[in-house]
Amino acid sequence: MAELLSIPRSVEWNDTHITILNQQKLPFQTEYLELKELADVWDAIATLKVRGAPAIGITAAYGLALAAQRYETDSIAEFRKLLQKDRDYLASSRPTAVNLFWALDRLVASIAHTSSVNEAKTALVHEATRIQVEDEETCRTIGEYALSLFQDGDRILTICNAGSIATARYGTALAPFYLAKEKGINLHVYASETRPVLQGARLTTWELMQAGIDVTLITDNMAAQTMRTKRITAVIVGADRIAANGDTANKIGTFGLALLAKAFGIPFYVAAPLSTIDLATKTGQDIPIEERNPEEVTHLAGMRIAPEGVNVYNPAFDVTPHELITAIITEKGIIRGNYETALPALFNI
Ligand code: MRU
Repeated sequence: MAELLSIPRSVEWNDTHITILNQQKLPFQTEYLELKELADVWDAIATLKVRGAPAIGITAAYGLALAAQRYETDSIAEFRKLLQKDRDYLASSRPTAVNLFWALDRLVASIAHTSSVNEAKTALVHEATRIQVEDEETCRTIGEYALSLFQDGDRILTICNAGSIATARYGTALAPFYLAKEKGINLHVYASETRPVLQGARLTTWELMQAGIDVTLITDNMAAQTMRTKRITAVIVGADRIAANGDTANKIGTFGLALLAKAFGIPFYVAAPLSTIDLATKTGQDIPIEERNPEEVTHLAGMRIAPEGVNVYNPAFDVTPHELITAIITEKGIIRGNYETALPALFNI
């Protein structure tokens, strides 16, 4: 899989700092940033220098482990207090992707039984590393399951970037395309540009083209026309949080694609790891939806495109009701409907 390996990793642990690929600068510049302070990690997540639910979780985990290396106390009780404070700070960077909270809480839990500060410091780095290693395996497995739903020659629409750089590697919704390439199966990807931040135009096309995968870019309002004229065979998207009933938050525009897919009789798939499933959130109505800076809408590439003072609504995510989701593809298999019982069951496999 030489092509995939040419795509840089989004996050790397380097003992004294974390290196991230600055996704704000893609596709024009491949810039790496060294995050040394907790505030740098918070800022990188909040400003989308690192983004995508699993990659946010991995970065936050490394960020917390990094901060903890510098705690000066010898008291494990004091150490736990400091860790909790930094956990809460990083948890405030973005509200929707549950992987952020999942990863931070995994780190806090990993030192529940440690008795010394030195042991705790080592345990945190190990746990953060494990989260990244596991995510790569998880994404590959999701890709295998997702690929089983596609056939040679299929034309598949996606939105945002649920790819290699949004995860440890492979991606979730994009994983089947890397595996198809590896196996010589021909799939054609249609990437919706994903206004306002353009993750589809800037990131998905960039990473798929690097891997030599056929990709065609469309603007978001071309989806219906593309489904009809290009005879789209399926839609596949990632997720930021899946509620206990299967309602799924993902990048703004996803809900619209699900409605269109239903109208055209096309399957609509969500690909996500178990770390994105939040059984504590009962329905989509309970998922906090991030609203971002109005400038993302009033400006394009730094240039104002709307009148000064215009009212703006800028939700970064929407919720697709479970009835519109043909299947949810996870590392534990594919579930179709009956999500309220099928989702909790995945955690017992
Ligand atoms: O605002 P972003 O770019 O972090 O939003 C990302 C998405 O909506 C992705 O589809 C989702 O996180 C899945 S990434 C495998």
